[in-house]
Amino acid sequence: MPSQVKFPKRFLWGAAISAHQTEGGNHNQWSVWELENAKSLAAQAIYQYGDLSNWADIKPEATNPQNYVSGDASGHFRQYKQDIALAKKLNMNALRFSVEWSRIEPHEGRWDATAINHYKAYVNELRKNDIEPILTLFHFTLPIWFTKRGGFEKRSNSRYFERFAEKILQELGQDITYVITINEPEVYVAESYFEGRWPPAKQSKLLGIRVLNNLAVSHKRVAKMIHGMNRRYKVSVAKNSCYVYAGDDAKLSIMSAAILQYLQDDYFIKKIRRSCDFLGVNYYFSDRVYGYRIHNPDTNVSDMGFDMHPGDLEHVLERLWHKYKLPIMITENGCADASDKKRQWWLTQSVAAIQRVLTAGVDVRGYLHWSLLDNVEWDKGRWPRFGLIAVNYDTMERTLRPSAKRYGVFLKKVRGDHG
Ligand code: BGC
Repeated sequence: MPSQVKFPKRFLWGAAISAHQTEGGNHNQWSVWELENAKSLAAQAIYQYGDLSNWADIKPEATNPQNYVSGDASGHFRQYKQDIALAKKLNMNALRFSVEWSRIEPHEGRWDATAINHYKAYVNELRKNDIEPILTLFHFTLPIWFTKRGGFEKRSNSRYFERFAEKILQELGQDITYVITINEPEVYVAESYFEGRWPPAKQSKLLGIRVLNNLAVSHKRVAKMIHGMNRRYKVSVAKNSCYVYAGDDAKLSIMSAAILQYLQDDYFIKKIRRSCDFLGVNYYFSDRVYGYRIHNPDTNVSDMGFDMHPGDLEHVLERLWHKYKLPIMITENGCADASDKKRQWWLTQSVAAIQRVLTAGVDVRGYLHWSLLDNVEWDKGRWPRFGLIAVNYDTMERTLRPSAKRYGVFLKKVRGDHG
C-alpha cells in the first residue's frame, strides 16, 4: 500500500463492527423480525441474488433459513478479548463498536448491571491494548419496548434515547472520547420505512421523513447533553455517503446527480452540523446518473453486486470538507469479498484516496475499515463476508485473511513512521 504521504501522528487506524451483527444472543426488534422472516427470505433468495455472478457460491447459504437468523452471530460477545487481540496484532489503534441498548435496558427504565459491566470490561480491554474506543449508540437495533412505544416515529420518544445515552456516558464515559450517536440515518429510514425491507417494515415516505427528522432532533439533544457532561467528548453521526456523478454532460444528468447528492448528504447534515465535533463518513459505492436514472457501469462488483470505485472516496471527502469544514473520520468503508481477491486492492485505493485529500488540505482524522470480522449483514444474513478476519460459523474459529495481514504490515509501517 502507498505510504509516501505522511499521515498525521494521531491518525486513527482500525476497523468497525456493530453489536447485533457480531455479538450473538441479542433479543431486540431485529432478532424477532429475523425469526419471523427467515423462511421467506430464504425462499426469495433466488429472485434477489440469482443474477449475481457468484450465485452458485452463495446459494447454499442464501437459500438456508438459518442464514437469516443472527443467533450466535460471530460470537463476539464471548470472544471479544480474542478479537481485540487480533485488532492489536494488526497494529490498529482504533475500533468502532456499538453498545446494544436492548441488553442494557431490556425493560423500560431497568438497567442490566451485567450488561453494563460487560461493556465496561470491553472498553477497558480496548484501552489496555492502546486501541481508541469509538462508541456508537444506535446502530439499527432497538429494544422491543421502545419499538412498541413507536420508536423514533414519535418525537417525544427521544427522551428514552437521551436517558440511555446519559446512562452509557455515566458508566463508560471516563474511557471514551468519540461518540457516534446514530449510524446511517438515511439507510435506516430507507430500508425500514421507504422500502419496508427491514423492521418495522413499513412503507410510508411521509412516516420515513418524520423518522429522519426525529433522528436529527434526537442526535442534537443527545449531543447537547453529552457536551454538557464534558466538553472533551467528540460527537458525530456515522453518515452514509455515496458519490453521485453524471454519466454524460446532459443538463438533466448533471442536475439529477446534484439533487440526489443533496438529498442524500446535505438534508440531514445541515440539520445537525452545529452539534458535531467531526463528521463520521461511511463510504461503500458511487452512483452514475443518466437523465434522472441511476445506471452503474457494474464492470467490477463486490459479492453483493455493489459497483466498486474505492478511489471515489476522494470526491466524497473533498465535497464534505469544503461544504462543512468539519474534521472527518471514515467510520466505515469496505467490501463484501468472500474470496479476498479484491479487499487488498480496495484498501490500497482507499488509502491512496485519503492521501490525495490530505495533500489537498482536507482534515481527515481516521480510517475504520468495515469490518474487523465477518458478521451478519442484516436482511442478507451471513453469506456476505466483509471481514478482515474470517469467521468459521461452525466452530467460531478466527483466521486472518491475506488482505488483513497486508493491512497489518501497512499499519505497522505507517504508524511506525512517527517513531
Ligand atoms: C452499515 C453496516 C453494514 C455495512 C455493509 C453499512 O450500511 O452501517 O451495518 O454491515 O454498511 O453493508
